[in-house]
Amino acid sequence: MASRLGIPKKIIDLVEGDSGETIEETRRLQRILTNLCYEGKPSLGRNLKQARQALALFSRDLMEHMDFEEKVTFPYLGTHVPKLELLISLLCSEHDEFRRNLRSLDFWLKELAEKEDGRNRMTVLEKVKELGTFLAYLLQNHLLEESEILYRVADQELRPDEKRQLVKRINEQNHRGR
Ligand SMILES: [Fe+2]
Ligand SMILES: [Fe+2]
Repeated sequence: MASRLGIPKKIIDLVEGDSGETIEETRRLQRILTNLCYEGKPSLGRNLKQARQALALFSRDLMEHMDFEEKVTFPYLGTHVPKLELLISLLCSEHDEFRRNLRSLDFWLKELAEKEDGRNRMTVLEKVKELGTFLAYLLQNHLLEESEILYRVADQELRPDEKRQLVKRINEQNHRGR
């Protein structure tokens, strides 16, 4: 990942890790939500359990990553590459959108689990499916904005010493446990 000078080839490699993994995780969550919506009542309990587990894992990873960006990389990039400031505030509002979406998904899955025989089941399932689809769409866009604009421009604009400083901050934060 790092060159001989200790400067990573690309900031994105350091910050995002394997974003393919995130996309795979979202697809998995979506698959589980689809099963939940279409496999019907006999598998509801099993599918619900799976969905809640997958969501908990996915939320934990995504929240950690967003907090890290907001605490470490975004403030640094905003200060050192001022033309990225506007994009950064857009990305932060997308982070908030993720948080809202994940909270709603968690809420509705809990509702389903607690009121398995509820008359509104179909409506709630529909909501869950919608939220899952929106989440995947939002995430794909977000990753694209970060990889194709934010981190690419950062790579072009930061001086080597600034890049080194950013890398140092990222590593320090990693050691403290994200
Ligand atoms: Fe990111
Ligand atoms: Fe992000």
